[in-house]
Amino acid sequence: MSNEQKLSVYQPSEEFVKNAAIAGMDAYRALCKEAEDDYEGFWARHAREMLEWKEPFTKVLDESDAPFFKWFADGKLNVSYNCLDRNVNNGLGDKVAIIFEGDKGDVTRVTYKDLLARVSKFANALRSLGVQKGDRVVIYLPMSIEGVVAMQACARIGATHSIVFGGFSAHALRDRIEDAGAKVLITSDGQHRGGKALPLKPIADEALALGGTDCLQNVVVVKRTGGEVTMVDGRDVWLDDIVASQSETCEPEWVEAEHPLFVLYTSGSTGKPKGVQHSSGGYLLQAMMSMKYTFDIKPEDVFWCTADIGWVTGHTYITYGPLACGATEIVFEGVPTYPDAGRFWKMIQDHKVSIFYTAPTAIRSLIKAADNNPEVHPTKYDLSSLRLLGSVGEPINPAAWEWYYQNVGGGNCPIVDTFWQTETGAHMITPMPGATPMVPGSCTLPFPGIMAAVVDETGTEVPWGQGGILVVKRPWPAMIRTIWGDPERFKKSYYPDDFKGKLYLAGDGAIRDVDTGYFTITGRIDDVLNVSGHRMGTMEIESALVAHESVAEAAVVGRPDDVTGEAIVAFVVLKGARPTGDEAAKVIKELQNWVGHEIGPIAKPKDIRFGENLPKTRSGKIMRRLLRQLAKGEDILQDTSTLENPAILEQLKG
Ligand code: PRX
Repeated sequence: MSNEQKLSVYQPSEEFVKNAAIAGMDAYRALCKEAEDDYEGFWARHAREMLEWKEPFTKVLDESDAPFFKWFADGKLNVSYNCLDRNVNNGLGDKVAIIFEGDKGDVTRVTYKDLLARVSKFANALRSLGVQKGDRVVIYLPMSIEGVVAMQACARIGATHSIVFGGFSAHALRDRIEDAGAKVLITSDGQHRGGKALPLKPIADEALALGGTDCLQNVVVVKRTGGEVTMVDGRDVWLDDIVASQSETCEPEWVEAEHPLFVLYTSGSTGKPKGVQHSSGGYLLQAMMSMKYTFDIKPEDVFWCTADIGWVTGHTYITYGPLACGATEIVFEGVPTYPDAGRFWKMIQDHKVSIFYTAPTAIRSLIKAADNNPEVHPTKYDLSSLRLLGSVGEPINPAAWEWYYQNVGGGNCPIVDTFWQTETGAHMITPMPGATPMVPGSCTLPFPGIMAAVVDETGTEVPWGQGGILVVKRPWPAMIRTIWGDPERFKKSYYPDDFKGKLYLAGDGAIRDVDTGYFTITGRIDDVLNVSGHRMGTMEIESALVAHESVAEAAVVGRPDDVTGEAIVAFVVLKGARPTGDEAAKVIKELQNWVGHEIGPIAKPKDIRFGENLPKTRSGKIMRRLLRQLAKGEDILQDTSTLENPAILEQLKG
């Protein structure tokens, strides 16, 4: 480690360490050693201590059908029971489970007892529609209490939910309903966002009109905005109507630990999103363990994860982890910049939030906003309730880390920079806040029990200080079980033959510090971009572009961006002449809107450039390396003689 880096090591305060679940590095190392000495015993101990089982498991890890690993396979439990009934039975019935704050500032509090009643009614209503264990339910809802209730209701009756982020388009929604073979879709009339009421049900109607969704029997509609909605007779039902007569008790469906709790679609390196399938027992176990160890959750905490339930962070750290731990949490509908960029800080102040978990992209945009307007600077608010901060979704640059630490955390809240993925289910590499000395920009060391390593192309571990490929050497309870309906793709994507099928391939590059062994994630090594902490496959965007009638060919790459981490740059060849000037500006707008409509606004390319062709080798392969350089505005200095059409580079310079 260089001198400069040595200076920026941050220790947790004595105060924090004193009460921490993992107090000091010796305690952290002891847990890691427990896992190394008896891997199955370590997870089994936690699974017995933390979860309530209807039927206890006798087998811990089953590797007989690797890489389709099974955990606690002969145990039975119910996830919703563990999140709700258990807490009510333990005297937390009157504790506030959710503090919901809407876009307009409306606040609703729901106790554990009330939440259990609402989930039970919803679950009974789903059963009355014929939803049974193993059926799939797609949820296309805004951030809302009902969103959490719908997920928990599915878990209660053993239905497998698949959330589609409310910002996704009709096409994306249709594809997911079809791939999952969903029986029921749950949506709302609309959502409030940044002061506007946006439609959702009309987009769902558009999705269903596209066809291919014959699997779907009913659409349940939640009233939120009061926006205009067309109801299809016999198919569409209002939630209010179907829950009205339902009982407030609902016998949970006791499921095997391996029962699929949810499928969540995420981008991969091909055009088709992958349905990441998660289990019930192993998943919930690590959701709880990470709440306890990474977030050091205590009964008096107010926990706020700002993610949307449409992403895995919202699954693990809104719907499941905090509730399973009996915590009080915030569920927020709006955006960080409405009514102004002080929204997050005001909410922390108003609700006395003690643990705050957000994405670097949000921090960077709020730094910019605070620089421009001192009124929305975090130091203008009383943030003294905070004791722990978290970051997730993308690397946090040291400058943003320092700002977050000083201005939001007041210089005395540890920051947990949590590396994990949709596929991993829970935190994989992260500081333990009462133990790990923090280095801005590094996610530090593996979560106890996680055997992470950095290897070369042959799967051999590289020395510390040398960059390589991030892998996990042993299966872990919350890991992805398969890709829904495509086990071959699961094997190929995550347990490739290059590593003899033995190592989990995360898809990220990493490097470990020479002295400390700390991990720093160096970014994706596949064709996946990370835009504002959201995963986007370049091929997905390319497919959307070429689906436009005027586009002949398209190639998409990422470019570093100050706020969004990466920005999408598209190189496009039109069927007609290469546009210039005003004409080019018009086509750019049209293509941006087109991609927004095909996938969702988050996939809109920030920069679109036109060429008469793309730079290709003589064998016709697009030279993406050159496109990445062009996207960054770098001069192409190397020899381009292998290019079939070197003159194209000039056109694509932008
Ligand atoms: O590239 C890594 C990045 O986000 C990817 C996973 O994205 P997703 O499945 O959408 O899940 C995001 C929320 C868990 C990873 O492969 N990533 C996530 N967290 C970090 C990160 N990169 C660096 N540091 C992190 N803390």
